[in-house]
Amino acid sequence: MVMSTTLKVGPEERVRIRVRVNGVWYERDVEPRKLLVHFLREDLGFTSVHVGCDTGHCGACTVIMNGVSVKSCQVLAVQADGAEILTLEGLAKDGKLHPIQEAFWEKHALQCGYCTPGMIMETYFLLKENPEPSEEEIRRGLAGNLCRCTGYQNIVDAVKLASQKLKELKMTL
Ligand code: FES
Ligand code: FES
Repeated sequence: MVMSTTLKVGPEERVRIRVRVNGVWYERDVEPRKLLVHFLREDLGFTSVHVGCDTGHCGACTVIMNGVSVKSCQVLAVQADGAEILTLEGLAKDGKLHPIQEAFWEKHALQCGYCTPGMIMETYFLLKENPEPSEEEIRRGLAGNLCRCTGYQNIVDAVKLASQKLKELKMTL
């Protein structure tokens, strides 16, 4: 038997959700139709999570949810109830950039920077799953993240450098 998962609330009603973002629990009432990207930006103030297309194509809104990269414009906030989420704001520690951020900086892997938070979070997931990816694996891993500026080569170089840095630091993601 197929069970219906339809939310039994109207568009004007609100649903209480709890999410843990960058190690901190937040509890808020949200409209059932609100997208996770808008919840993170507008309700919680994590403005690194960019809106590029709102249709799942550009990857600017990428975050890590329960250990997996997701395009947060493709997830409803209510679907994230109880989830653990990591955004770019959660990477730097004690005023020091994360090695992936350092690598993007050192390889000049950005111009306007609009795609960068999503690129970095997708890189985080890629290197978590495959700490020493080949160039082809990097390009395939970032295929869902679009950049209008860089031509991608410096981004690929940054991912290689990030992999090297994490290995040297013996740092797991
Ligand atoms: S804003 Fe989510 S994929 Fe473009
Ligand atoms: S740096 Fe401008 S879109 Fe990527």
